[in-house]
Amino acid sequence: MKNIATLEDVELRFGDKIILRNCSLDIREGAITCLIGLSGAGKSTILRLLNGLQRPDKGRVVVRGVDVSTLRPRQLPEFRRQIGFAFQFAALFDSLTVGENVAMPLREHTKMSKAEIAKLVHATLESVGLEQVGDRMPSELSGGMLKRAGFARAVVTNPDLVLYDEPTTGLDPIITHVLTETIVRLRRKLNGTAVVVSHDLESIYAMADYVAMIFEGAIIEYGTVEQVRGSANPIVQQFLQGSEVGPIPL
Ligand SMILES: Nc1ncnc2c1ncn2[C@@H]1O[C@H](COP(=O)(O)OP(=O)(O)OP(=O)(O)O)[C@@H](O)[C@H]1O
Ligand SMILES: [Mg+2]
Repeated sequence: MKNIATLEDVELRFGDKIILRNCSLDIREGAITCLIGLSGAGKSTILRLLNGLQRPDKGRVVVRGVDVSTLRPRQLPEFRRQIGFAFQFAALFDSLTVGENVAMPLREHTKMSKAEIAKLVHATLESVGLEQVGDRMPSELSGGMLKRAGFARAVVTNPDLVLYDEPTTGLDPIITHVLTETIVRLRRKLNGTAVVVSHDLESIYAMADYVAMIFEGAIIEYGTVEQVRGSANPIVQQFLQGSEVGPIPL
């Protein structure tokens, strides 16, 4: 299977703190890859590397055959337009309606007319089950609806790669199920690839084609759900079982 993106021996520091080291990861095209790991392990950082918001200190981040570090500033908007990003905190603009929020990437990155944008925004809101709330303000939405509005904004430009950062954290099991199904459905609809950072193992087991676990700066386990659940690595097992007993320093 082809990779749409890879991290190759990436090292990344913030000051003298090493966040990623010898970090290599394949993102398979047409699949859902879930990224797991402890809080602060560097999961969001990997998503930011994949869409060019962050640069590695060493190693390479390659997306669709292009080394992201070689992109010029004026090439970045076009590069980012082809990658959807549903942020960890929904990050909608409070002063804009939900529909206006979803329209933002189209206004910024395309030359579409107002009418074309309105039509596409409506269709995209519909695809996440939010066709009724385009005119509402973000403050009037529930947590689950906000997440879906964030998904709509992430996919409205039809990206073939969508990054989701903790799409279900802090939401009830039913909304979690709906959001998980929405990610699966959107991936199919876009005929694309998704990378999902999540702590929600049930949701991961339901949607992941591949799971990668990051620990102390590197990917220590990678495979299908079945392979990772059957991992012989005690760190992986301790993490999946949520046990306080084991090799992971607390
Ligand atoms: N801009 C920054 N400057 C300094 N340190 C940072 C910066 N961004 C992230 N970090 C640090 O890098 C580490 C990895 O952060 P990251 O947000 O990628 O973790 P994460 O795995 O997404 O965690 P969580 O599960 O809590 O969201 C953390 O220790 C964090 O404090
Ligand atoms: Mg994070």
